Amino acid sequence: MNTYKILHKQIYRNDAYSIVPIRMEDRDDIMRWRNEQIYHLRQSKPLTEEEQDNYFNKIIQPLFTQDKPEQLLFSFLKGEECMGYGGLVHIDWEKQKAEVSFLIASHLEKDFLQEYMTIFFGFMDEVAFVELGLNKLFTYAYDVRPHIYPIIEACGFIRKEFLPKQIKSGEVYADVIIHEKEPVYPRLRLANISDMETTFKWASDPLVRKFSFNKNRITYPEHQQWFVNKINDKNCEYYIFQNQHQCLGSIRYDIENGDSGRISYLVDPSLFQKGYGKMMFGMGIELLKKRRPEVKQIYGFIEPENIACLKVVEFYGFSIMLEADLYKVTKTF
Ligand SMILES: CC(C)(COP(=O)(O)OP(=O)(O)OC[C@H]1O[C@@H](n2cnc3c(N)ncnc32)[C@H](O)[C@@H]1OP(=O)(O)O)[C@@H](O)C(=O)NCCC(=O)NCCS
Repeated sequence: MNTYKILHKQIYRNDAYSIVPIRMEDRDDIMRWRNEQIYHLRQSKPLTEEEQDNYFNKIIQPLFTQDKPEQLLFSFLKGEECMGYGGLVHIDWEKQKAEVSFLIASHLEKDFLQEYMTIFFGFMDEVAFVELGLNKLFTYAYDVRPHIYPIIEACGFIRKEFLPKQIKSGEVYADVIIHEKEPVYPRLRLANISDMETTFKWASDPLVRKFSFNKNRITYPEHQQWFVNKINDKNCEYYIFQNQHQCLGSIRYDIENGDSGRISYLVDPSLFQKGYGKMMFGMGIELLKKRRPEVKQIYGFIEPENIACLKVVEFYGFSIMLEADLYKVTKTF
């Protein structure tokens, strides 16, 4: 299986459905569907097998190893069978936004478009807003299939723009409808390299160090090394909690033996006692369960004086046991 260097998680599942980095073996089906549905695509003439092979080898293959690919394409599967494809295209890393595209197998369009598009857009929410931390998604659709708008809008997109007579292909003009979607804030997203300094500031704060097990001062080079290891570690789910304007805290699960997650979390000390710790902790559990369903237990250790932390775990139904001079808190799913 091809893997995208930029993604922490490659396969996304929802019951029988999944997306995987676009498979070479699906290229002929995709070519056929594109040719059959050319009327609503940015494509001027039918593709040939040779053109499709070239596209996969020259344009798609390099995306897997790029740090900032312009697009991330996925095969949409039911079991192992490809039912469509799509992904994030025209990714603008500076503006933190991307277009979502989805093409369903032509013979499924009539009966399954609504169901499959909704599932696929759900996957794109996770890829865009959690994995990549993007701030905006949009769709760009030629105004030739009005039945897709209610589906897009039911997925949380809002109609933003009508662009009359855009050049579609060659001399053909078509009106375009643009829909947009933003994440629901506050949100959790994966920590990335841009969080290095904020996380250092938090970790260095005396109010955070007070309840850490390592009470020594951390140097910036130590933090840099530790942080880069953590964000690249596939056995670590490291989330930043943020609103539109600032990062509020972080929650991290170090996954041990594949099914057990050790929790560490903190809130920006200037924002204590506003309810963020409790909210983030609950959202963190739900996100971990969604992203890593193989994890069956989460646990952590808490100093007896850390009343806020004890209140939070108690609220979420953790079992609490005194072990030596610390509380071990555990929750099993
Ligand atoms: C633990 C921590 C994340 C809590 O974050 P927070 O945003 O301040 O917590 P909240 O505002 O959501 O409050 C959670 C609960 O603790 C209570 N609480 C918060 N601060 C408190 C304090 N200093 N003393 C007593 N209770 C406190 C709140 O009233 C709330 O209880 P309630 O739900 O019964 O009303 C935060 O204190 C922190 O980052 N501490 C340093 C790092 C740390 O200890 N991490 C946890 C290691 S296990």
